[in-house]
Amino acid sequence: MSDFLMEMSGIVKTFGGVRALDGIDIKIRAGECLGLCGENGAGKSTLMKVLSGVYPYGTWDGEILWDGRPLRAQSVRDTEAAGIIIIHQELMLVPELSVAENIFMGHELTLPGGRMNYPAMYRRAGELMRELNMPDINVALPVMHYGGGHQQLVEIAKALNKKARLLILDEPSSSLTASEIAVLLDIIRGLKARGVACVYISHKLDEVAAVCDTVAVIRDGRHIATTAMAELDVNRIIAQMVGREIAALYPRQTHAIGEVVFEAHHVSCFDVDNPRRKRVDDISFSLRRGEILGVAGLVGAGRTELMSALFGAYRGRFEAEVWLDGVPVDTGSPLKSIRLGLCMVPEDRKQLGIVPDLSVGQNITLTVLQEFSRHTRIDSESELKTVHGEISRLQLKTANAFLPITSLSGGNQQKAVLSKMLLARPRVLILDEPTRGVDVGAKSEIYKLMMELAAQGVAIIMVSSELAEVLGVSDRVLVIGEGVLRGNFINRDLSQETVLAAAIDPSARATGHCDNRETA
Ligand SMILES: Nc1ncnc2c1ncn2[C@@H]1O[C@H](COP(=O)(O)OP(=O)(O)OP(=O)(O)O)[C@@H](O)[C@H]1O
Ligand SMILES: [Mg+2]
Repeated sequence: MSDFLMEMSGIVKTFGGVRALDGIDIKIRAGECLGLCGENGAGKSTLMKVLSGVYPYGTWDGEILWDGRPLRAQSVRDTEAAGIIIIHQELMLVPELSVAENIFMGHELTLPGGRMNYPAMYRRAGELMRELNMPDINVALPVMHYGGGHQQLVEIAKALNKKARLLILDEPSSSLTASEIAVLLDIIRGLKARGVACVYISHKLDEVAAVCDTVAVIRDGRHIATTAMAELDVNRIIAQMVGREIAALYPRQTHAIGEVVFEAHHVSCFDVDNPRRKRVDDISFSLRRGEILGVAGLVGAGRTELMSALFGAYRGRFEAEVWLDGVPVDTGSPLKSIRLGLCMVPEDRKQLGIVPDLSVGQNITLTVLQEFSRHTRIDSESELKTVHGEISRLQLKTANAFLPITSLSGGNQQKAVLSKMLLARPRVLILDEPTRGVDVGAKSEIYKLMMELAAQGVAIIMVSSELAEVLGVSDRVLVIGEGVLRGNFINRDLSQETVLAAAIDPSARATGHCDNRETA
């Protein structure tokens, strides 16, 4: 009998002639947590889709042994029956269905006679929410009621509800807060203690270091190394991932900050389902030319609601006065905003960022299509030139520009969305979690790009849940908590503790002026 619960050997997967996986071997023991690391597009998600039956047996080459026997799954149903449960990188929830219905999708509890047993499902869903330290979630509400972080937790609950012997977590933490991540890592430790094996994929390598026993690194579809975590550290993992050391992650430079270009006055957003409840409560702030403004806060604090209201994309009722260059403007819809030079890269790439039916190239040029129109036709040659320029500028990994955007790896889709908004030549650029799911190398490229844009005078707002990132790139930091502006700090000797303290202090209330008593 083999020592290993699961062994994959010689896995090859091609997409239209492109080898996404080129002969990969990985093994995992019961109770072991294997970190799977690699740059965007390295093949991590593809490998896990092979393992979990998303790509059925016969659509790839190589062999999978499960409990020492060949696994030839025709679908996810087969692998789930075997005990292989996957949490996908992109959320798979049905927004209109309730939290509980999503958790039980395909495995509904029924009463004799076949009717749904809602009380039992609600009870179990509630238990799972408490296990995830989310007792306030109302499991009867549609999931779309909740933000990205909470949705991610629902996705995790859904997986925990199934009987896993091997749990695959593909970027499970990208929209979770530090304390939510801590809960998740504890849950994984608990599963390990019960003999459940895990594969943990994350670009947040400190999490990998914290919870994984071994780390497998893949690069360009090839297996580079599998090493015990005890013999590794974060820098070594990075070196294996990119084949070189990354010098400085945060290339912060001093740059000139000019006059006020953007002002938001009295922004309030009302809850979509409960119009009496305010998700954002009377927030005002301003932004200068060339300034990078970081927006910190806990998940659910109202940051995304605030940004989408400014951009004219908030789904519920909102009030916002937006001024550009000292003049009130109408940013009532995304199109109006983009025309005014106010652009946003949204947090929710799948729902708002990409147009899934279009190609990589079409997505990139979407906001500037009129620039390529000549009378009645599109000058596709110059369009393609622009697209190629963007692909090389952001080192976007795609076999060609005509592939569907959905065929790109998660991180590369993110780069395409960024590229689309940059082409619109924004004066004010809102980035909501711009480096979510982006590998370390590409992260530093995105920061460099932000610095360049700021140096050219673009005013940038960056919402991020990674405090290190907020402090690493911002000139000034706004802190939002429970829909209220709780801090407005010049980023000079600003500590994570100060920011966090403001985020959770219910008595803190900041104004448009800086709290650390310096003039902006
Ligand atoms: N359906 C598909 N059609 C064509 N190419 C694909 C398809 N799915 C994946 N690929 C390609 O396979 C390669 C590996 O992608 P994969 O999604 O596995 O990367 P990843 O390591 O998960 O990256 P990330 O960190 O960005 O999530 C990429 O070059 C991607 O473009
Ligand atoms: Mg992936």
